[in-house]
Amino acid sequence: MAGNRGNSIEIARSYMDSLYVEGRIVGSVHPTTEFTLFGKRFRTPVMTGALSHLNRIHPDGVPEMARGAALAGACAQIGMGDVAELERAVSMGDGVIKVIKPYKNTDAILSRIEAAEKAGALAVGMDLEHAVNTDDDKDSVVVDQQMELKSIEQIRELVQFTHLPFIVKGALSVQDAVRCRDLGVKGLILSHHNSLLKWAVPPVALLSGIRKAVGSDLILIVDGGIEDGTDAYKALALGADAVSVGRPLMGPLGEKGAEGVQQVIEQMTDGLKAMMVRTGVADLKHMDPTVIWQSVQLVQKT
Ligand SMILES: Cc1cc2nc3c(=O)[nH]c(=O)nc-3n(C[C@H](O)[C@H](O)[C@H](O)COP(=O)(O)O)c2cc1C
Repeated sequence: MAGNRGNSIEIARSYMDSLYVEGRIVGSVHPTTEFTLFGKRFRTPVMTGALSHLNRIHPDGVPEMARGAALAGACAQIGMGDVAELERAVSMGDGVIKVIKPYKNTDAILSRIEAAEKAGALAVGMDLEHAVNTDDDKDSVVVDQQMELKSIEQIRELVQFTHLPFIVKGALSVQDAVRCRDLGVKGLILSHHNSLLKWAVPPVALLSGIRKAVGSDLILIVDGGIEDGTDAYKALALGADAVSVGRPLMGPLGEKGAEGVQQVIEQMTDGLKAMMVRTGVADLKHMDPTVIWQSVQLVQKT
């Protein structure tokens, strides 16, 4: 592909920046950002993204990130890693979702699901978007591990294998959402995983259609390019239950460890509250999409 055309990170950024917010200060009250996910209460809907290989930037990388989330009262997603790291991250976090790669080796998947259950993870999931390459249709190899495109039947078996809520990362359409719901999936992380899918419809733009199609049956988490509390606010106003933040946490993790992660999540949560109070939203259940105005309408072709 010539140059950087179709870069979904840039497309999502410009879409987010095309969204404006009307003010509803009259009668507004100080808001709360508390929310409950799979029966567990958190102080904020800002969660850490499913990151991996963070020991390049901090000696206890992923577990330290989970500890930072816990300090901020946030849920932590964790990405690729071995069982020992998973166990440590779950014990250092306070509400951890393990996102498992679509390994070709089924035992690699099942052993991680079992370890997540035993360690007390909140949920497990799979980043289906990483099963294939970006520039051809071959199954991908991620850090020397062979991945595999998963069939509907394989996904169903995984959902049924675990007693934990199962989340699918990488779903980016109403069709995927409905399929997941029908398979018993409990949540989606709407993600193009740093442009693995080129020309992706911005995850935030998909929210209202997916919400209409699946109602409250699925938890919807928006991932990718959430840079501050105003981005988080827009996603939540448009129907997300939570937002996922990855790359913006990496620098602070490297510099200050868990406290750096805590600081960023708390700053984003403050920014979210600032938007809520100025738009008359007292809590996350009362987020209202009609506060959002769009300078450019994105229309689905029929
Ligand atoms: C260093 C790094 C490692 C990542 N590892 C994983 C992973 O193991 N599993 C996964 O599902 N996503 C992984 N991701 C993707 C993130 O979870 C997320 O989808 C992506 O970075 C977009 O979010 P962001 O814009 O907030 O960073 C990784 C991203 C980065 C930057």
